[in-house]
Amino acid sequence: MSQDLFPVPPEWRANARRNAESRAAEHARSLAEPDAYWLEQAQRLDWITPPTRADESSFAEGDFGVRWFSDGVLNVSVNCIDRHLAERGDTVAILWESDNPAEAPRRYTYRQLHAEVCRFANVLKSAGAKKGDRITVYMPMVPEAAFALLACARIGAIHSVVFGGFSPEALAGRITDCDSTIVITADEGRRGGKTIALKANVDKALDLSACVQKVIVVQATGGAIAMRDGRDIWYHEAAADAASDCPAEPMQAEDPLFILYTSGSTGKPKGVLHTTGGYLLWAALTHELCFDYRPGDIYWCAADIGWVTGHSYIVYGPLANGATTLMYEGLPNWPTPGRIWQIVDRHAVHTLFTAPTVLRALMKEGDGFVTATSRASLRLLGTVGEPINPEAWRWYHTVVGEGRCPIIDTWWQTETGGAMIAPMPGATDLKPGSATLPMPGVDPQIVDADGKVLEGAAEGNLVVTRAWPGLMRTVWGDHDRFFQTYFTTYPGKYTTGDGARRDADGYYWITGRVDDVINVSGHRMGTAEVESALVLHPKVAEAAVVGFPHDIKGQGIYAYVTLNADEDPSDTLRQDLVKWVRTEIGPIATPDAIQFAPGLPKTRSGKIMRRILRKIAEGEVSAQALGDTSTLADPAVVENLVRNRVV
Ligand code: WTA
Repeated sequence: MSQDLFPVPPEWRANARRNAESRAAEHARSLAEPDAYWLEQAQRLDWITPPTRADESSFAEGDFGVRWFSDGVLNVSVNCIDRHLAERGDTVAILWESDNPAEAPRRYTYRQLHAEVCRFANVLKSAGAKKGDRITVYMPMVPEAAFALLACARIGAIHSVVFGGFSPEALAGRITDCDSTIVITADEGRRGGKTIALKANVDKALDLSACVQKVIVVQATGGAIAMRDGRDIWYHEAAADAASDCPAEPMQAEDPLFILYTSGSTGKPKGVLHTTGGYLLWAALTHELCFDYRPGDIYWCAADIGWVTGHSYIVYGPLANGATTLMYEGLPNWPTPGRIWQIVDRHAVHTLFTAPTVLRALMKEGDGFVTATSRASLRLLGTVGEPINPEAWRWYHTVVGEGRCPIIDTWWQTETGGAMIAPMPGATDLKPGSATLPMPGVDPQIVDADGKVLEGAAEGNLVVTRAWPGLMRTVWGDHDRFFQTYFTTYPGKYTTGDGARRDADGYYWITGRVDDVINVSGHRMGTAEVESALVLHPKVAEAAVVGFPHDIKGQGIYAYVTLNADEDPSDTLRQDLVKWVRTEIGPIATPDAIQFAPGLPKTRSGKIMRRILRKIAEGEVSAQALGDTSTLADPAVVENLVRNRVV
């Protein structure tokens, strides 16, 4: 691991809101006087009733709960839109770039955004939506997706965004789990010149979910789709009659804002619930700390709204801070590997925030696509989603940023609401591959497998000892699962599921998941989910899925599959299984390798030894690497697996 230090550039040192000293002092104060610090920070939001209480959370069994600013009342859409109107009504809030480079960008000022969101909110109301209802959003990256989120927030409905790449089956599961009554979708999505049949997928999903009463359809491509009478509503038709003003619902700070499903190490995806006051404050504060946004900056988070990064850093954080947020419909490498840099030039982007997997894919195409563009506007570069390898970090820093842009490597999770460990551009000297230091209010620890706290330079499991405002509040419909999943491994502490190393300077280096979650191109995937999909196939008896190193994706999906006794392995069946998983979950779950395995390594009590499967997938097949196999029910199984590795 690199130990090079990249000091804060002089321009940032001179102008940024925080320097090294003030960052350290703020962190210390946030832990020493949390109530005073957080009530002061809460003033960055507009409250209908300002809170007088800050943290009332407890991680202890019996008394468990997460609660912030509980007597405060506010509305998120007012904070993201209305309060900016007097000063920045004519500033562009959302700048949209189409998948098709020949199509003109669209721009919405804060005033126009206000009208669009109000109209959308009125359409939702006339479709029967009320405060507390769940509304599933299955949308392409068009401005209407952001309007939809903010419209839900305006009327107090709880949105649940499902990434447009998920299959009808996966969508149906997420709709049913939270009993959505309305789905917002588009006729089709566009990415990389291809269309995605979103409305057709919703139709299939609704054959499986009975709770939905209305489907609101945004016309994005104009492609032919079927509309069902009485259920489906064209958004443009309903919006034509809708008023462009809509009162905002006063919300308690702890009223739910959204559910976002994410993968865990066991069972079906969890509906992570975030609430109104704490989440918005955390998104806004961390957006400011990480990116030091100033009026006039064009800020681009190149994520999808289907993931938490899109929620916090395309929509809520930047809009709460009055920023101009760029939203891009397409892929970073289409029609050419230079597209992302062309967009940077076209819109004079100041801050670009993307994922290591994107950088690795573009790096492979050579520097020419980058150097053919100017990028003179770039001042800050961010990354998120997975550990960034030092090679990709250096390329981002040297080739893309020409050495002048700090790299803001933000470590966080769907559960944490926003960045937890990250540099601040004017304050933090950088080390390639390290997410550096904790945000205010974040008190991380490294513990060993027994929960013993490791001090100083150490490596182990990353936990957080106290609540912060952006921490999730519950798993939708299963509060006990929330407690059991995150607070029982190391009692009294939030378990992140990540491993980390802390160096002698107190910098954190995230080493990756320590549980059965794999990170494929920055997308979380539960191995159990892929296994469940595989065993649904009529020819499959058993499956075990592990991650393995992948040049571009970070981790790839390696599946060991045991067929039913009368089935023969074949390449056709292998392709069929790949297709099967894509249909069950979606393309992001596409297995990279399928190995037919007559038997899986199991203990005598029948537990699959994943450690061994991981080693074999990683290509570590020496007896030493595989360790003790004598406890296996049948040690010969391992030999067969090693002989038939497929990558
Ligand atoms: C990983 C995405 C290293 C980590 C915001 C975490 C990272 C999981 C980083 C959460 C980073 C995210 N360095 N690892 N900068 N950012 N991760 O919920 O394993 O989609 O637990 O949230 O991604 O993924 P999620």
